Amino acid sequence: MQRRNFLKVLATGSVIAIYPSMIDGTLHADDGTLFETYEKVQLVDEEGNPILASTLEKEKNYVFNYPHVATTCILLALPRATDTKVTLKDEDGTEYIWNGGVGKEKNIVAYSGICPHQLTHVNKSDTFISYLGTGKKTMACKQDNVIVCGSHLSAYDPQKGCKVIAGPAPQPLASVVLEHHEDDTLWAVAILGNDKFQQFFKAFKPELKEQFGGKRKAKKMLKNTTTTLALADYTKEVIQY
Ligand code: FES
Repeated sequence: MQRRNFLKVLATGSVIAIYPSMIDGTLHADDGTLFETYEKVQLVDEEGNPILASTLEKEKNYVFNYPHVATTCILLALPRATDTKVTLKDEDGTEYIWNGGVGKEKNIVAYSGICPHQLTHVNKSDTFISYLGTGKKTMACKQDNVIVCGSHLSAYDPQKGCKVIAGPAPQPLASVVLEHHEDDTLWAVAILGNDKFQQFFKAFKPELKEQFGGKRKAKKMLKNTTTTLALADYTKEVIQY
């Protein structure tokens, strides 16, 4: 696992926090804890062929696991370019900046599929959290083009880094930092925001044991590639309110 915590030991022996923005010029956080790099993995289909950004169907829910085998994320090609450099706040009030979508049209985004309210998440049996595209109505808010968690009707705006626009969610969905390469391939490289992964592993221990054979196995980090599927092919039922 490649994981950096953005701390640097100075020649004097003191330790300072290095902002992600100082490392790659694109990501910003008040402290390094809101941005963590993991093993860089390529998004591939079930046969192992690279997912090409230009072939993603707009407004369709796709999913892939990252950075753990049990943490499922939502991938979207939105109908238009996202906003850029959106200031977000986690539940503690810490600000960070979401840089925007990738791909030729700057419309490709990925977010953690774990709702930070009470950890409703994308899963194989029934999924209550997903994107509702143009013209789709939701009980959560009047806006379309939103990710809605149907458990308590929180709505997130994926055009703006999944800022909360309705409901009890205390903070945005964490985002997956994607790289789009010249050959049109997509790679997951980091997580930005408060991801709630540890709370998720703790809260769903029995379910994870049943599905993966134990918490340790569920926590295993993805390496090299991650399979990307349409949400409808991943889960038995998508429930949207
Ligand atoms: S768990 Fe998602 S809104 Fe409550």
